Amino acid sequence: MEHLISLNDLTLEEIEQILNLSEKLKRQQKEGVIHHHLKGKTLGMIFTKSSTRTRVSFEVGMYQLGGYALFLSSNDIQLGRGETIYDTAQVLSRYLDGIMIRTFDHSDVEDLARYGNKPVINGLTDLMHPCQVLADLFTVYEHKGTLKGLKLAYLGDGNNVAHSLLHGCSKVGMDIAVASPKDYMCNEKIVEEAKEAAKISGSKVIITEDPVEAIKDADVVYTDTWVSMGQESEKQVRLKIFEPYRVDENLFSKAKEDAIFLHCLPAYRGYEVTEEVIDGPQSVIFDEAENRLHVQKAIMTILMGK
Ligand code: CP
Ligand code: NVA
Repeated sequence: MEHLISLNDLTLEEIEQILNLSEKLKRQQKEGVIHHHLKGKTLGMIFTKSSTRTRVSFEVGMYQLGGYALFLSSNDIQLGRGETIYDTAQVLSRYLDGIMIRTFDHSDVEDLARYGNKPVINGLTDLMHPCQVLADLFTVYEHKGTLKGLKLAYLGDGNNVAHSLLHGCSKVGMDIAVASPKDYMCNEKIVEEAKEAAKISGSKVIITEDPVEAIKDADVVYTDTWVSMGQESEKQVRLKIFEPYRVDENLFSKAKEDAIFLHCLPAYRGYEVTEEVIDGPQSVIFDEAENRLHVQKAIMTILMGK
């Protein structure tokens, strides 16, 4: 494992390695054990979109591992004024031990990895959010004690988070059902990749327009904003189209009785999920947010600790 760009690039063993190390680092941190696996190392964090969790968890994680993280807003670095990814990758590779990037075009992340020579971590693109989904899998594991054989239902926009859930669930042997409106369904290539992985792990991939079909008997119910970063001008249209996909108490009751609720956050209460569900007893959103820290520490240790 050289980079973390797409979960489709990871083997089941690599995913398990990340989850096992996350568990160990979390336990050690709670016991007050110092684990400076990245002493003297630096991580550059390029952001061309906003962030609360990703930024803070990477920065704090790097500090806890004994390293240093630099926040590089695209408004402040020359990338935002048109310097090429090629030059940026070459230059940053001379200073840093790793680069985390959150941006729009997925190909920019791939180019950063191609042209630089340091590990690149995808902190979200329009296409994928792999760090999020590794934290989600870890959270499910903590609450359910297993992953294989469970069913996750994702209701809403078939974009970045849904794509990484397709990759992640299908690799670890979880069934995944994604329900989205007709024109907002997941990328077909990613669905095919997930179906291929599901053949190997023995799980199922269901893509539907019907939220009730997707949520039926789910162990994990997941949703995300209906208006992702960069889609603000489509807000009014989207709010109407996504209305039937709101996770309210009625829809949530069709999942298993002991289902847990996940949301990558930020959440918009009253839109994709009601307060009763997201603030209810089956919601584990803040464990999920906390786990971004532990899982990313594991990812950075594996990629940058060599
Ligand atoms: N879930 C997530 O990536 O949150 P931020 O946008 O706050 O980083
Ligand atoms: N789908 C959301 C995820 C935010 C973490 C977005 O891209 O804005």
